[in-house]
Parts: sequence; structure tokens; C-alpha cells
Amino acid sequence: MKPKVFVTRQIPEAGLTRIREVCDLHVWESEMPAPYDQLTKRVGGMDGILCTLTERIDAALIDAAGAGLKVISQMAVGYDNIDVRAAAARGIPVGNTPGVLTDATADLAFALLLAAARRLTEGVEYIRSGHWTTWQPRHLLGADLSGATLGIIGLGRIGKAVAKRARGFDMRILATSRHLTDTEAEAHGATRVDLPTLLRDSDFVSLHTPLTPETRHLINRETLAQMKPSAILINSTRGGTVDQRALYEALRDGVIAGAALDVTDPEPIPLDDPILTLPNALVVPHIGSATVKTRDKMALMAAENLIAGVMGQPLPNQVKLP
Ligand code: GLV
Repeated sequence: MKPKVFVTRQIPEAGLTRIREVCDLHVWESEMPAPYDQLTKRVGGMDGILCTLTERIDAALIDAAGAGLKVISQMAVGYDNIDVRAAAARGIPVGNTPGVLTDATADLAFALLLAAARRLTEGVEYIRSGHWTTWQPRHLLGADLSGATLGIIGLGRIGKAVAKRARGFDMRILATSRHLTDTEAEAHGATRVDLPTLLRDSDFVSLHTPLTPETRHLINRETLAQMKPSAILINSTRGGTVDQRALYEALRDGVIAGAALDVTDPEPIPLDDPILTLPNALVVPHIGSATVKTRDKMALMAAENLIAGVMGQPLPNQVKLP
């Protein structure tokens, strides 16, 4: 009998095809995520679960799957939605998809940086609202990248890929990261500094740290106040790393100049969130890894983790407990 697996979302066909070769595949039918109580029912009796960042995989859900559960495979690099300790306590490996989405996510972070620096959404809005009557010498002036300082918080895979792009734009790069050495920073054209120095000296601050209890609300009223009034914040990691209310107030009051966010807290961002009313905030709907090729690769990698897990083999990419 083929192992039974449940896939929580309509993932790219490349992944589903691979899973069908080995497993008895059950997929959540709707394009919308499964409500938690439905998910709890559907995972019952499964050998494996392939999930995404829209599902909360906690101890109760893992227990609802039953004693036969052998693997949880996340189609994302971040896994703050999964209680990895509860999984480990039950001997269940958790897989994720690092590497394959590095360039796509770094591209998106840089797209946000450029768009915010050059006020692209304001320009689009200016035309659409019928305000463009002439070329103006003093209108919609933005920030230069060349010679500006980019502060990267979290010089991991994606942070390094962002540094590579920044070097191409002749930016000066500062970085802070948990275990970063001077030599490693220098190898990526960056200077290692502490967080206060990074915040004080950067024209752009880009977040690339995973969301953990330590990084929740890392950007808050106090840290925002340490940034330059001309600074632009870019977030393409997880919304929870930023205190969104404090960010709104900082943008409204000119504490910092702008923000470009691919991630919000919560997601989706409620339409009445005041941040959406600000001209200096650019918000897109968590599309960091959203390219055709990247999503295919993520689906395939998550499929391989799932298959290895149900076969009792080591996962090609297993999450390690911190
Ligand atoms: C996307 O946000 C991911 O973690 O892969």
C-alpha cells in the first residue's frame, strides 16, 4: 500500500506529479487555506503532511494526524508556523526549502528597495489620478542608491544575495547577524556592526532574519527612532519582525522616510490598516518567492522531503532545532 499524504494547498503541479509516483495523494481542494478544524480532520491517519506558511501546525494538529505521521514538509524556507519542538518531541522530522528561493526573494527585496527609493507607487498613483500635467524639476524626488548605505539585518543566504545586488549598485553595506564574523561579512562586501550602529548609519535597512521569539518586533518604536529620518525600511522576511503600529506612526510622523513591505502582521493585511493610507508605505502580498521557476523548485523540494520522510529516509533538507 502506498503511504497516505495530505497536501494542504494547491501547490505547483510539478510537486504533485512527483508525490503521486510514490504516495496516495490527498490535496485540500480549495484555493483558500483550510480552516484549522478542517485541517485537523483531514490530516487524520496520514503518513505525511506537506504544508505551507498559511497553516498553523501545532502540537494538537500533529496529534490529530495520529501515531502514523512520519514527516511534516513545509513548502517555504521559513517555518515559524510549525511547532518544530512538538514535532521533534514526537520524533517527526520537519523539512523546508532553503536555497531554491534565495535569488527570487533577494530580487524582490531589491525591487522593493528600488521602488521605495524612487517612489514608484506614488508615481503610478500620480498618473492614474490625473495629476500629471507637466515634467517638474522638484517633484517626486527620491533617494540615490549609489554611495548610499544599506544595512542588512540577518546576513544569511538571502541577506548575502541582497548584498551581492547592492554591490552592483555601488552601495556601502553594513550587516549584523547572530554568528557573523568580520571575515565572513567582508567576503560579502559588508562591514560587521552592531544593531544600533547599523540603524544609525544606514540609508536603507533590509530585514532578512527569521521570525523567532528573539526577533519578534525587532523593529519597534525605539529601534525606529534610532534610524535616520531619511531612512527606508524593507521587510521581505516575516511581518512579525516589525511592530506594525509603531512603523505606521514612524512613517506618519516622519521618524523615517519610507517602508516597503512584502510581509505584514497579520497576513493578509486588513484593508483598514492605517499603513495602507500612507503614500510612503508600499505593501505587496508576500510574493518574495513568487516566480514560476522558483515555486516549481520549492514544490519539488518539498515533495522530495515528504517522500523521504514517509519512506523512513533522512530528509534532503531537514530543519535543525536551534
Ligand atoms: C516564504 O516566505 C518562505 O519562507 O519561503
